Amino acid sequence: MSVRPLNIDPSNCFIAGAWGAPLSGETLPLINPSDGSTLCEIARGQAADINAAVAAADAALSGKWGKATAAERGRLLAKIGRAVLDHVDELARLEAMDVGKPLKQARADVLALARYMEFYGGAADKVHGETIPYLDGYTVYTLREPHGVTGHIIPWNYPMQIIGRSVGAALAMGNASVLKPAEEACLTALAFAEIAHKAGLPDGALNVVPGLGAEAGAALSAHKGVNHISFTGSVGVGKLIQQSAGTNVVPVTLELGGKSPQVVFNDADINAALPFLVNAGIQNAGQTCSASSRILVQHGVYDQVVTAMAERYGQLRTGPAMADLDVGPLVSNRQKEIVEGFLSQGEDLEVVGRGQIVTDAPTGGAYVAPTLFTDVAPDHALAQKEIFGPVQVIIPFADEAEAVAIANGTDFGLVASCWSENGARQMRMARALRAGQVFINNYGAGGGVELPFGGTGLSGHGREKGFEALYGFSVLKTIAARHG
Ligand code: NAI
Ligand code: MG
Repeated sequence: MSVRPLNIDPSNCFIAGAWGAPLSGETLPLINPSDGSTLCEIARGQAADINAAVAAADAALSGKWGKATAAERGRLLAKIGRAVLDHVDELARLEAMDVGKPLKQARADVLALARYMEFYGGAADKVHGETIPYLDGYTVYTLREPHGVTGHIIPWNYPMQIIGRSVGAALAMGNASVLKPAEEACLTALAFAEIAHKAGLPDGALNVVPGLGAEAGAALSAHKGVNHISFTGSVGVGKLIQQSAGTNVVPVTLELGGKSPQVVFNDADINAALPFLVNAGIQNAGQTCSASSRILVQHGVYDQVVTAMAERYGQLRTGPAMADLDVGPLVSNRQKEIVEGFLSQGEDLEVVGRGQIVTDAPTGGAYVAPTLFTDVAPDHALAQKEIFGPVQVIIPFADEAEAVAIANGTDFGLVASCWSENGARQMRMARALRAGQVFINNYGAGGGVELPFGGTGLSGHGREKGFEALYGFSVLKTIAARHG
């Protein structure tokens, strides 16, 4: 099959189905974190561009897009998913250069984006209302309607996956979206808009305005024409977004990361657990909302797990995204400084495992060697704060009650896992762990597009992914007809 190459101009916004320079004419440099070079200039969208994007989305809702049936929306999303797959190599290269992630991870992200489109394409016409038995002479039923214009403010760590789970679900339910990608990485968001448009998504159904958080992001979250906001990113900005949503009284979905534990009991299958214990911490250089940054290990297998994890750390190689090693650079030198700041708080701790930065890694790159700490007290900063780098801490525990207390003893609650061969313990832990997702004898379930995902506490609220997201991206209307 011949595939038309992607043709995006990242110094533009994509609004109402067309590329256009931001109204200010200003741009920002986009940095390649593998070597510190400037990849290109991106649009510095501002409030005026957000206004235009929201107006375009609004127009789409009263035009062809708003009139599309659920089946038509679903068919179109599935088609967009196939078009994404047509560009898998190109999208993977863009994402690897932009985010610094190893090529194989970037490729997995493209496949996940396509899978989201397939899933939400198939689901679009399967969200049904109910009829409700009521008084004599009444027929009562419910409809699930779109919110209207949805605003999506996304981070730089997994742009394609987060577009898939949030924009995919929003479009499936018939909303029109305005997407503000992160200033650190926005190329695949623009490429996706182009792909979706070429596949037939009507003008204005998806608009993309790159720019700074404090400018384009703040303008989008405060815009009175936006009817729902979904945000993935830091806790601090999440609070600001919720305040804006409060001012306008619109619903908000917040996914704010975590400090997710894996709990390893004496009776666990350690060999099965090991790859999960390490990969969940170093995947995407630890810049993953659901990264497992705390490993809790029961006394009886503690030395064995520490030794085996340390050995794996010793084999980890860190280098440029295109070299496709175990770990790439962090997204930016700013993120590297954040992570190094945490590492300096661990100077009193024992480092048992450290990965290597390859000797030919470019000097301007944002590289941090993966670092494994052991015997960390549960209340230590490195065991409490989200680090967002390739850093894990191992914490010992004596029994199930202590494991639960430590696992639940942070302000977060996104993901947790339990490694044990005891079925009753698995069931108790699944209930006791405070998290939006709990995994038994695995971690992450390979991404799981179908699996509802979201947090409690400072990890945020609302659910994305799976069917649940479709309820979040729609509003329930109850109709009571009195007919006698
Ligand atoms: P951030 O929260 O500042 O950025 C995420 C998105 O929010 C970006 O698109 C940004 O432009 C936008 N934004 C920033 N300020 C805004 C504002 N005032 N109004 C509206 N939108 C705004 O996160 P940042 O600074 O890139 O990373 C800092 C820390 O946040 C990381 O070290 C990590 O701990 C956490 N984080 C968590 C993520 C997750 O997946 N849950 C993703 C990215 C960061
Ligand atoms: Mg920020």
